[in-house]
Amino acid sequence: VLGTSDIWEPEVSEWLLLEQSARNVFPRYGFSELRTPVFEQTSVFVRGIGNETEVVQKEMYTFEDRGGRSLTLRPEGTAGVMRAILNSGFSEGDERRVFYMGPMFRGERPAAGRKRQFHQVGCEAVGRASPLADAEMVAMLWDYLQSVGLDDGRLLINTRGTAEDRVTAATTYREFFESHAGKLCEDCRRRLETNVWRILDCKVESCRPVVDQAPAMTDLLSPESCAFFSRVCQALEGMGVSYEVAPRLVRGLDYYEHTVFEVTHAGLGAQDAVAGGGRYRLYLPGLKNPVEGVGFAAGMERLIMARESRGLGSAARQDADAYVVCLGLEALVPGQVLGKTLRDAGLRVIVETLGDRSMKAQMRAANKSGARFCLILGESELEQATVSCKDMKTSDQYELPQAEAASRLTAELAG
Ligand code: HAM
Repeated sequence: VLGTSDIWEPEVSEWLLLEQSARNVFPRYGFSELRTPVFEQTSVFVRGIGNETEVVQKEMYTFEDRGGRSLTLRPEGTAGVMRAILNSGFSEGDERRVFYMGPMFRGERPAAGRKRQFHQVGCEAVGRASPLADAEMVAMLWDYLQSVGLDDGRLLINTRGTAEDRVTAATTYREFFESHAGKLCEDCRRRLETNVWRILDCKVESCRPVVDQAPAMTDLLSPESCAFFSRVCQALEGMGVSYEVAPRLVRGLDYYEHTVFEVTHAGLGAQDAVAGGGRYRLYLPGLKNPVEGVGFAAGMERLIMARESRGLGSAARQDADAYVVCLGLEALVPGQVLGKTLRDAGLRVIVETLGDRSMKAQMRAANKSGARFCLILGESELEQATVSCKDMKTSDQYELPQAEAASRLTAELAG
């Protein structure tokens, strides 16, 4: 399917590294792993992410199952995580800290760094309405990026204030953009009516000069919202996390309130956001008051691309330590027995299964596997319970008893 990929070695090692780093870093901040289903009832996302967003309007993979239920492949992690937290018996005053990783699905136009099945690693801290929780979340993201070798991203941060702030701000923005409507793209002229915030996010080149002159969000907020944002910034400075205030960063999902942030990376090209997040407030069925949380998600494909741009990445991996060449059909079963002994000792072994191939053809296969040792079982070796061993690295060749092969090869590999 367009916009999906197969992931082969050696790239799989990159994924393991990203996953392992997540499992190292996040628990140090009190977060534990949560795995939610890849599909949910459609309403989980429509209510959670917001009906007016690009994701919900244009990008969701939504289908009816055989029972006529509307289901959606998750386009992001936050809404499903909140659904899970609520199902687990969350009540007011509780706190939860979780991290997750896995595939997400959005029907976007595929491009470099933009896929239809992509993967995120993300975190959510739910139940604390404190600017310190935001600063800690950003610091944790920074810690994670450093742990995967990316200490050169740009951390952009802004505030969207509260819902009340946004009503006032939206009026100011609408007036401003209406007075410049002639210079805006067609989509943005439509957004004047539907969602003026999307204009601030517009990536069309001709809209940028207008957007850059628009008032900064921080100038349109209530004193309380400004104070909240200042506390976030102060805490980041205190923790030594360097950031830039991006006064027009709004982010594409409706649930954000107060702090929003994004990390961009120069190695990525047009889709340059490696991670994004912010504070949110969600109205969940069954709870009187909305639940507050803060979180982020990083795109794993983009983390790998950013690592690649810094020359980080996995070297080509060998498939095997040893390849057992079997000369003649009688050698096939003894070959498997030898293979099993070596595997029991922890070696990665490929054993010839055809037996009627020439020595040359089998040696070629051994070479291709990248195996360090080629072990040859022919008529005379079978008679004497030995094996001929060729060290492909040094070209040394010697014969040894089959019973000693495991310990000898293990020692050679370790040395
Ligand atoms: P988002 O900005 O939509 O936020 O996605 C987060 C990251 O996922 C992006 O910065 C990007 O690296 C990656 N990403 C998004 N779409 C694609 C795509 N089509 N192909 C490849 N990578 C992609 C969220 O999803 C929020 N749930 C983050 C959050 C968590 N906010 C609060 N908690």
